[in-house]
Amino acid sequence: MNTLARSNPIAVLLVLALPCAGLAADPPVGDAARGATIAATCQGCHGAHGEGVAATGGPRLAGQTADYLGAQLRNYADGRRTNPIMSAMAKGLDAQKQVDVATFFAAQSAPYAARSVEPTPEQLARGRTLTRVGDESKQLQACANCHGPDGTGERYATPYLAGQSAAYVASAIKEWKTGARHGGEAQMRPVAQRLDDQDIAAVSAYFESLGDNAH
Ligand code: HEC
Ligand code: HEC
Repeated sequence: MNTLARSNPIAVLLVLALPCAGLAADPPVGDAARGATIAATCQGCHGAHGEGVAATGGPRLAGQTADYLGAQLRNYADGRRTNPIMSAMAKGLDAQKQVDVATFFAAQSAPYAARSVEPTPEQLARGRTLTRVGDESKQLQACANCHGPDGTGERYATPYLAGQSAAYVASAIKEWKTGARHGGEAQMRPVAQRLDDQDIAAVSAYFESLGDNAH
């Protein structure tokens, strides 16, 4: 060890660090086929392919990353997010099942659900500005900085918003504003606090409308 330390301290650090990394509990690996069975209990509210069902309030899940979906199921299960339906659903799944069903929905591609709101031209313009430019007068940065161009999502970092249900986007933003939703609050709370009701209506309608354009 001593000889190694003198000759290459970085190698020693690696040798010491690797066994520790191995000891940390690795998250389970998801299996989409097992997830498909579990998804039967989700599809009534989220759609057969995770396209979302406006009438139930179930947001779009299709193609969202398995990491993000799995993290949200854990958040519902441990109370960082609360929703009467989803808290119960997530608590009913062990860690393996959460990852399996997340993997299933991540692998789905589905046509966008029909728009639930018809944005006014003003809302479209305001939504586009907030997404692409932000609002300097409110010290608000562009959504696109984190959510990718036009809300297509940034793999490993942030969920997509393009084509997401307007009602769901609005309610998520309001939950960060009041502090009800945890996870991502370092990024999303300052954003949510700078959006008034009109801005929230505009970005929600704008992002939902982008689902159509993505075809
Ligand atoms: C009875 C309707 C219903 C059922 C059944 C249901 N969900 Fe949900 N789900 C919802 C609603 C409503 C929301 C939005 C909750 C909120 O605002 O926090 C949601 C939110 C979610 C989210 C968060 C999405 C995001 O973008 O953060 C995930 C993930 C999710 N559901 C997965 C599932 C899975 C997996 C199942 C099946 C095991 C399931 N849901 C069953 C209605 C349902
Ligand atoms: C500094 C980075 C950052 C900026 C800027 C940002 N977001 Fe986010 N946003 C995030 C992160 C990170 C998450 C995921 C949080 C989590 O893990 O629950 C998120 C999640 C969301 C969600 C929840 C999506 C879902 O499926 O539940 C919505 C809605 C949202 N952001 C809207 C917006 C809007 C609208 C803007 C612009 C006005 C914006 N965000 C700007 C980082 C950002």
